[in-house]
Amino acid sequence: MAEELTPETPDEAEEPIKQRKNGLYQGVSDELAENMKSGWADTELTGLAPIAQAAHTADRRAALSARFPGERLVIPAGNLKTRSNDTEYSFRASTEYAYLTGDQTHDGVLVLEPVKNGHEATIYLLPRSNRENGEFWLDGMGELWVGRRNSLAEAEQLLGIPAKDVRELPQALKDATGSVRAVRGHDAGIEAALTDKVTAERDEELRVYLSEARLIKDAFEVAELQKACDSTARGFEDVVKVLDKAEATSERYIEGTFFLRARVEGNDVGYGSICAAGPHACTLHWVRNDGAVRSGDLLLLDAGVETTELYTADVTRTLPINGRYTDIQRKIYDAVYEAQEAGIAAVKPGAAYRDFHDAAQRVLAEKLVEWGLVEGPAERVLELGLQRRWTLHGTGHMLGMDVHDCAAARTEAYVDTTLEPGMCLTVEPGLYFQADDLTVPEEYRGIGVRIEDDILVTEDGNRNLSDALPRRSDEVEAWMAGLKG
Ligand code: GLY
Ligand code: MN
Ligand code: MN
Repeated sequence: MAEELTPETPDEAEEPIKQRKNGLYQGVSDELAENMKSGWADTELTGLAPIAQAAHTADRRAALSARFPGERLVIPAGNLKTRSNDTEYSFRASTEYAYLTGDQTHDGVLVLEPVKNGHEATIYLLPRSNRENGEFWLDGMGELWVGRRNSLAEAEQLLGIPAKDVRELPQALKDATGSVRAVRGHDAGIEAALTDKVTAERDEELRVYLSEARLIKDAFEVAELQKACDSTARGFEDVVKVLDKAEATSERYIEGTFFLRARVEGNDVGYGSICAAGPHACTLHWVRNDGAVRSGDLLLLDAGVETTELYTADVTRTLPINGRYTDIQRKIYDAVYEAQEAGIAAVKPGAAYRDFHDAAQRVLAEKLVEWGLVEGPAERVLELGLQRRWTLHGTGHMLGMDVHDCAAARTEAYVDTTLEPGMCLTVEPGLYFQADDLTVPEEYRGIGVRIEDDILVTEDGNRNLSDALPRRSDEVEAWMAGLKG
């Protein structure tokens, strides 16, 4: 059995912090340093209720423990990342860490320590700031600067996991013996402490496991995804209401409007919003969002609210900016709608994962043949993949904490698997006619349409989590008219 990790408690007698790196606090008098040590109320909280998903995170850790018996498992939250000079990007905890703990604190690390009959979990966190040595007001991570943290005892009550001081972890990991695996890519300091103890291959097995464990969502996760979709629907409504202001400015007005909803109701947007007006709809990852918004054009809006617990929606609607589709826009839109209907109908337990993609692509290929854009029959087009000049991307993907969720899952567990209740995926066919595509009549050029919904596999079929937003062209128009008043 591997030896237990027992970090030392921090040395209370360490030198007082007298100055910050940038020299801002040089010259702190002994009197002031002494003065700042005391006169602070004890704010320790007791009797805290566990977080809502505590029972679920415990189940997830138990499943992980059963998969890797006898091995120490290290799962970091990640660190702050510099944006420029001394400013940082807003922090988003690693999916693996948040999934297993429900915590989102930067620099946190979950360690599963092997013991007889399983593992003991410990969460390593930055504790409350020491007031005796000046840390709380002289250090950049001091609570005076960044706000009050949970004490280790408080974190333990909230998360249901024993908590220790993370500053002791690197040395404890270096000193420990026995088999260890870590999730890489989030915390360079932790990886450095493990460098001669882990192998890329074994760490990858841990990453793959944690990706595949998330293929089937538990009840908490399904509720979060529904929340994300409902907030997202409200964000789309917000956008429709300000399309005139976007016309007077740019696509940025749309991005900012949706972001407001995401920040107020959730944590953030789950990915960079694609606010693509006119021909920008044909650029799949259009996130510059600095273009003009013009009456008569379409707006392809692909955006998703990420909830406070880090589950994201991924929804696309392609809207007529002035509220009414032109004939050619409607023809293309209705074809994509038909393809999406066929795709959604193929989402059910026992179906092959690839079925919904095949069903949607078949409809699109048939339309392209019918419109004379490619020589048929549709079977030939599909066999040669000729429709892909205009369909461009796959018809969907798993959805969850990551927008492209479970990305490290093995082919046999994901694209070659059959659907099971609790899986959640997007169905998002599209047709894109580039502005410079000389192979299609001029009236098609510069039109891009995608319709994307978030579909939960249920016991007897599926449930569209994003059906608060209309999809059929006439229903979209009526919905927009209602919102614009
Ligand atoms: N928004 C990324 C995607 O639809 O997959
Ligand atoms: Mn999307
Ligand atoms: Mn998607």
